[in-house]
Amino acid sequence: MPFKRDDFGPDFIWGTATAAYQIEGAVDRDGRTPCVWDTFSRQKGRIKTGETADVACEFYDRYESDLQLHQSLGLKAFRFSIAWSRILPDGFGPTHGGCINESGIAFYDRLIDCCLKLGLTPWITLYHWDLPQALENLGGWPNRKIVDWFADYVDVCTKAFGHKVKHWIILNEPLAFSVLGYFTGQHAPGRRSFRSLLPVIHHTALAQAEGGRIVRRNVPDAQVGTTFSCSPVDPFTPRDKAAAIRVDALMNRLFIEPALGLGYPKELPFLNGIAKKVAKPGDMEALAFDFDFIGLQHYFRAVVEQSYFMPYLWASQVSPLRRNVATITEMGWEVYPESMYRIIQQFSQYDGIRKLLITESGAAFYDSVQQGVVNDVARLTYHQNYLGQVLRAKQDGFPVDGYFAWTFLDNFEWAEGYRPRFGLVYVDFRTQQRIIKASGKWFQQLLA
Ligand code: NOJ
Repeated sequence: MPFKRDDFGPDFIWGTATAAYQIEGAVDRDGRTPCVWDTFSRQKGRIKTGETADVACEFYDRYESDLQLHQSLGLKAFRFSIAWSRILPDGFGPTHGGCINESGIAFYDRLIDCCLKLGLTPWITLYHWDLPQALENLGGWPNRKIVDWFADYVDVCTKAFGHKVKHWIILNEPLAFSVLGYFTGQHAPGRRSFRSLLPVIHHTALAQAEGGRIVRRNVPDAQVGTTFSCSPVDPFTPRDKAAAIRVDALMNRLFIEPALGLGYPKELPFLNGIAKKVAKPGDMEALAFDFDFIGLQHYFRAVVEQSYFMPYLWASQVSPLRRNVATITEMGWEVYPESMYRIIQQFSQYDGIRKLLITESGAAFYDSVQQGVVNDVARLTYHQNYLGQVLRAKQDGFPVDGYFAWTFLDNFEWAEGYRPRFGLVYVDFRTQQRIIKASGKWFQQLLA
């Protein structure tokens, strides 16, 4: 072992991260209404494998045995998300005339109790991309009312679970669901519209801060955070430096800087349209919220070049294949452990950030089961090396205090379907059998 658990200190948080839509299944049970991913995954050509998450890992029914398995890994923190449409089938809550689905509340209540009984700390993500379809039908994230609808939802969740759950994450990767969902159309709801993009970004940033305020009001002793996908950005050639600055502004700064009271990054001129056309008086102040922690979700570095094909950004990524990168995951991502150190360093430079947690990192590699064993050396090595860089950053004094492996169970990887496997635990999707992979056993030993 390259390091010991103790090297990270007694307060370091060890966990896995999951998301409701990717593991739960049971999409039509107990009053849950469809979300945008239910609709999207049923449209032809949207999911590469043609699959849906109707069944996924059946976590809705198997959570008790799954959480026992999680406990056996020695990872004490369990990050999961709440499916908005299980709680509020209309999308909005009682303040806007909607109803609360008590069966949905009861499910998460059981799940939380089960965590607590097993000594696992629940970390709730409020929004991990599964917008109720009812709200998309009313305009979705481009409609400013989403900020109030989201506020209803956060209010109901925190009132229901805040006495038991003290770790709250407002949004999962706002950049991903806003840009991929409404601009490139690769994710649900699959819209491709530049007109929607600026309102979506602004409403998302407002909801992020408003959500934080509601959690703090309803759960005063909570730790409140939000998470960002992030990657250090390198220019491909010296001529691509300006492109790298723009991509960095989009990938790493777009949602943290408004939260810190710094406004939207000036390096992206198209964002000026927000102040000019989208924002209302007082909004720029309302974007700020003093989060207790910021979750970094880091997987790969970005190498970029100028490009006339990418409107507004005028830059695009140079694929790892073109760069002859040594190790590439099933997602086509470069494995580059130093980028973990660099991204922690980059975010540590903001004055307003108190604590950083790695709320996701992990790798999809092809897995095979042989004599009941999954020997996923590449994934194991990934976690060792990325964690090694987290430790290095910590030893250099950066305020990083936790690591959540993405992910606990192999699951529905959005537009990629079930093919990319990120889990520490293998799932046979025909039988729902679980097998702890070598990477999971490595965590078990490290944390024993
Ligand atoms: C980002 C997302 O939060 C998660 O849902 C996804 O499965 C992983 N990263 C891997 O792509």
